[in-house]
Amino acid sequence: MKIPIKNICCIGAGYVGGPTMAVLAYKCPQITINVVDVNQNRIDSWNSQDLSKLPIFEPGLKEIITKTRNKNLFFSIHIGECIANADMVFISVNTPTKTKGLGAGKASDLKWVEASARQVALHAKAHTIVVEKSTLPVRTAEVVTKILKSSNNYENLKRKSSFDILSNPEFLSEGSAIDDLFNPDRVLIGGESQDAMNSLGEIYKNWVPEEKILYTNIWSSELAKLTANAFLAQRISSINAIGALCEATGADVREVARAIGTDSRIGSKFLNSGPGFGGSCFKKDILNLVYLADYYGLKEVANFWEEVVKLNDWHQHRISRLIIKKLFGTVSGKKICILGFSFKSNTNDTRESAAINICRDLIEEGAILFINDPKVEPKQIAIDLNKDEYKELKDINKIQLLNVEGLWCFEENIYNAFENADAIVVLTEWHEYSLIDWGIASRKVRKPCFIFDSRSILVKEDIVKNDLNFWRVGDGNCP
Ligand code: UDX
Ligand code: UDX
Repeated sequence: MKIPIKNICCIGAGYVGGPTMAVLAYKCPQITINVVDVNQNRIDSWNSQDLSKLPIFEPGLKEIITKTRNKNLFFSIHIGECIANADMVFISVNTPTKTKGLGAGKASDLKWVEASARQVALHAKAHTIVVEKSTLPVRTAEVVTKILKSSNNYENLKRKSSFDILSNPEFLSEGSAIDDLFNPDRVLIGGESQDAMNSLGEIYKNWVPEEKILYTNIWSSELAKLTANAFLAQRISSINAIGALCEATGADVREVARAIGTDSRIGSKFLNSGPGFGGSCFKKDILNLVYLADYYGLKEVANFWEEVVKLNDWHQHRISRLIIKKLFGTVSGKKICILGFSFKSNTNDTRESAAINICRDLIEEGAILFINDPKVEPKQIAIDLNKDEYKELKDINKIQLLNVEGLWCFEENIYNAFENADAIVVLTEWHEYSLIDWGIASRKVRKPCFIFDSRSILVKEDIVKNDLNFWRVGDGNCP
C-alpha cells in the first residue's frame, strides 16, 4: 500500500535541502514542507523579508521562495515537532570528509547523518519514510536503519512509529539547481519497500515524466550517485591533463574538446578545461569511492580513482606556478587582480574552489591580491584563505611603492582593481568578466601586464591588440 504523503520534514537547510524543498513545495502545493536546521542564523536568513539575504544565491530561487514560503514551505529550528508531524523525513545534512581518525582524508564524517537518524527515532510518531538526500557512502542506509530500529522499541510501539529507508540522491548542480530540479535527467529512488518507493515516486510524478523515475535497490542508488560524480570529475581531470599537453605541443584544448565531443560516444558536455574542479561534491565523493574500494581490498580500483583527485590538485598548483613563472619568476610585492572566487559562476559557494589553492599559493609567494567576486562575501574569502582581509590596501593607489607583500583585499569595482595591476587572473566564468573593456584595463594596469584566462571566456585578440600579454588554459598558441 503506498502512503500518500501530506507532510514532509527536511533536516538541513543548505545548498541541497533549501532549493530542493522549495521546488518540491512549489510543484506540490498539497504537501506541507518544513525545512529544519540546527543553525538559527541560517533559518533566520531563509525567513528574511529581504530576499537578497537568503543564505544561498541560486538563479530563480528567490522567485520560488516568494511563491511558497509561509504557504506550504516553512523554515524553522523546531526539529522534533516537525519530525513528529511528518510522513516523510529527508536527511539533507552535510557529510564532510573526516579530518582525523579512521579513514581521515577519505571517508565521510557521518556524525550529522547519525544525529539526524537519532532525532527521527526519538520524535517520529507514526510510520515514517526516511529519505537519504545527502550523498552518502555506500551502505549508509544500513547504519540509519540500525539506529532507527534499535531505538527504544517500547517507546516506538507506544508512538506507533516504524520506518522505511530510501535513498534518493540529488543530482542538482549549483548555479542551475532550480532548472535541474524542474527538468531532471532522471530521479533515482533506491529502497527495499516498493510501497515507500512508490510514495516518493508519486511526489515526483507531479512534474517529472514517469519514465525518468528510476527505481533500484538501495545500494545501487547510493553507489550510482558516487559514480555519477566520479565520472563527471574524471572527464574534467582528463581534459585538464590534455590541456597541459596542448600548451606544451602547440595544440588548443578547445579544438581538441570540440573534435572529441562530436563523437556521440564521448559527448560534448563537461569537456571545458578550467582551473580544476571544485565544489562540495566531486572530491569528497571520489575519496569516498577510494575508501570503499580500499576497504574491499580493490587496490587498483582505489588507485585509479584517486588519480582523478591528484591530477586536479596538481593542475590547480600548476596554474599558480605558471603565473609566477610568467611574471619573471617572482610575484613578491606584485599586484594581482583575481576575478572570481566561487567554484563556478552563478553561485556564492566557495567550497573546494580552485581559487582557494591558487590564491593561497600566490599569497605565500608574496603577491598582493585584489579579489573580486559578484556574489562571494569578503568574510567567506577570509575564512577560505585563513587570512584576514587587509582593507587598508584599497585606499592606496601606489601599492608598489609600499614595501608590503602576501596580503589580500576585496575590491567590488573591477576597474579600480586593475589600477597598477601586474596581472589579472580569471578564475570563475562570471558573465561580467567576458564584458571587460580591455582598452580601459590597458590604460590602468602596470606594463608589462599579464592576463590569465583559466576559463576561456575572454577574447584573445581584444587583449593582445591592447598591448597586454595573454595566457589561457590549454592554448599552445599564446604569444
Ligand atoms: C549537501 C549534501 O547534503 C551533502 O551530502 C553533499 O555531499 C553536499 O551537499 P549541502 O546542502 O551543500 O550538503 O550542505 P550545507 O549547505 O552545509 O547544508 C547542510 C545543513 O545541514 C547546514 O545548514 C547545517 O546547519 C545543517 N545541519 C547539519 C543540521 O541541521 N543538523 C545537523 O545535525 C548537521
Ligand atoms: C556536481 C554534479 O554536477 C551534480 O550532479 C551533483 O549533484 C553535485 O556535484 P556541482 O558541484 O554543483 O554539481 O557543479 P558542476 O557543474 O558539476 O561543477 C563542478 C566543478 O567542475 C566546478 O568547479 C566547475 O567549474 C568544474 N567544471 C565543470 C569544469 O572545470 N569543466 C566542465 O566542463 C564542467
